[in-house]
Amino acid sequence: MSPVDPVPYRIAGIAGSLRRASFNKSLLAHAAAVAPPSLAIDVLPDALRLPLFDQDLEDAGDPDEVVALRAALAEADGLLLVTPEYNFGVPGPVKNMVDWMSRPPGRAPLRDKPVLLMGASTGRLGGTVQAQGQLRISLAVVGAHVMASPPVLVAEAGTRFDGDVLVDEPTQKIVALALARFADFVATHRPR
Ligand code: FNR
Repeated sequence: MSPVDPVPYRIAGIAGSLRRASFNKSLLAHAAAVAPPSLAIDVLPDALRLPLFDQDLEDAGDPDEVVALRAALAEADGLLLVTPEYNFGVPGPVKNMVDWMSRPPGRAPLRDKPVLLMGASTGRLGGTVQAQGQLRISLAVVGAHVMASPPVLVAEAGTRFDGDVLVDEPTQKIVALALARFADFVATHRPR
């Protein structure tokens, strides 16, 4: 962190699942609770509740939900996106959010934004590796800076949580390490 930077950095937290008992919501809540003092993670519970992207809607003036999310992201120093994987890909509501936040070209709220990806899936393999890979491509095109490592890929999520509490120690450790690295990453990549 630079001595002139405001402390803590404000991080918008978005879970990529609308499900009430979502593992990804629980993972995001855990990250927000254990984040280092240099990161204040503010969970945006309605970030995915946007209309389907439609250029006609955009041309008529952004819907209120889009305006609100755009403002929240614009104010944030970084984004923590914690998403499941659907059918080896990015869940539709997440891609829809990214598409809205990629607009307008050149002034998109995701542009130049430091991003930390995490994800949990119930599958035995991957732990959302394919969804995160696809998101990296889309976010790179938008001009966001996605931190490369350590990857936070939580497979077999059903075995790692007790209710909505993350109890798996190796997962707790990788989340803590990623957050610590992200604090440094935001310091060097956040828009000035
Ligand atoms: C899944 N799930 C899943 N898991 C995975 O590891 N790879 C996959 O490709 C898929 N595909 C998939 C498609 C659809 C439509 C659903 C509903 C689910 C299982 C998924 O990991 C599981 O439902 C998680 O619990 C979803 O995350 P939340 O809602 O708990 O955060």
